[in-house]
Amino acid sequence: MDFLPHDLLEAIARQVGTPCYVYDQGRIAQNYARLAKALAPSAEVGRVCYSVKANSNLSVLRLMRNLGTGFDVVSGGELRRALLAGAATDSIVFAGVGKRDDELVAALDAGVGWINVESAQELRVLSDLAAARGVVQRVALRINPGIDPHTHRYLATGKRASKFGIETEESLRLVAHRADYPGISIEGIHIHIGSMVSDAGPYAEAMRVALAVVAQYRMLGATITTLNLGGGFGVAYQPDQAEAPIEAIASNILPLARKADLRLLFEPGRAIVADAGALLTRVLYTKTNGNVRYVVVDAAMNDLIRPALYGAAHQVSLVSSVSDVLEVSGVSLVSGVSVVGPVCESGDVLAEGVMLPEPRRGDLLVIHHAGAYGMSMASNYNTRPRAAEVLVADGKWQVIRRRESIEDLVAHEVEC
Ligand code: LLP
Repeated sequence: MDFLPHDLLEAIARQVGTPCYVYDQGRIAQNYARLAKALAPSAEVGRVCYSVKANSNLSVLRLMRNLGTGFDVVSGGELRRALLAGAATDSIVFAGVGKRDDELVAALDAGVGWINVESAQELRVLSDLAAARGVVQRVALRINPGIDPHTHRYLATGKRASKFGIETEESLRLVAHRADYPGISIEGIHIHIGSMVSDAGPYAEAMRVALAVVAQYRMLGATITTLNLGGGFGVAYQPDQAEAPIEAIASNILPLARKADLRLLFEPGRAIVADAGALLTRVLYTKTNGNVRYVVVDAAMNDLIRPALYGAAHQVSLVSSVSDVLEVSGVSLVSGVSVVGPVCESGDVLAEGVMLPEPRRGDLLVIHHAGAYGMSMASNYNTRPRAAEVLVADGKWQVIRRRESIEDLVAHEVEC
């Protein structure tokens, strides 16, 4: 796998310890540049708003801000992170199906560019909060286009009965009665069909639905300027997997948006950071139970939940071996290895059916494509401190989040 040089990874693991997330700044910048060039070649066409949930480390967010992205946030916490990273407030889009009042107030006080509203009740609450502050908040209504994006069922968000968004008919009623909501101004539509979408079809379909809805809103007299088509561009976790054809998606959508006089917003997360990050882990033990060859490593499902939660298959490779077998006698490959973590759950399997050179205690492994939804979904299950994070830029590296200590984990507990 094409990631950072092995000697660099071994040096990081030795000094920082494992498990440890490592991110490649150059790759993040490259991925962003490709997306921005295709999807938002100029400010008039639109903007890429990095989806903070994919990887929310402040150093990553600062990097994204320096590259020129806006930010897609889904909580008061992510909003705060974007602000701490120095985001221009009007570049922030606040989405989310269940925003609390205090989160809406924080967004209003910050002056975010957009709030994507996901229910009629939220529109009322937001309008009242904004009016009480004497402001008019620009909003997009999130609608469910009723599209199946052909992805894992946990990653599909735009189906008709999903919990996200507002039904189109109801959104039309809200637009028709927009005068009853003095604190908001409906100027956009938001559609996010799901994540890990790997072909252009669902985006074309979403565009078709969006244009029809925009036409209806405009017939009701609303001034709709912007279409937020969400994120979801799939990446190839395995060599035989397809990645989203970004350029084809763009060449499909951009001319239609121009014709309809709509500015576009996109909210990619995974496609920017997934392949720019990896999880380093050391082999603790090896054993064979039944006919399964187990490699027990020091990373676990609490560090990377994707395999357990979605059945995601990440590639695993050997960085460095404690033995010199590799150099002396060539590689003896062991096939069908299960890489498992120390957590007390049978589901704590990081990778199955992996082909590895004979693994030994102390070997360093790298789990690829862990830059998105890796650390941001990590937990402290089994009272395991969360891993350290390292950013590599121009061959130099720096810890951007220190490893948690057990003291950190018990710090909030109150003696009774
Ligand atoms: N916009 C909205 C409204 C979203 O809900 C999401 C992701 C994105 C943008 C960014 O999607 P992306 O470009 O990263 O696919 N934890 C899962 C992915 C969950 C995605 C949730 N929403 C995973 O590890 O695969």
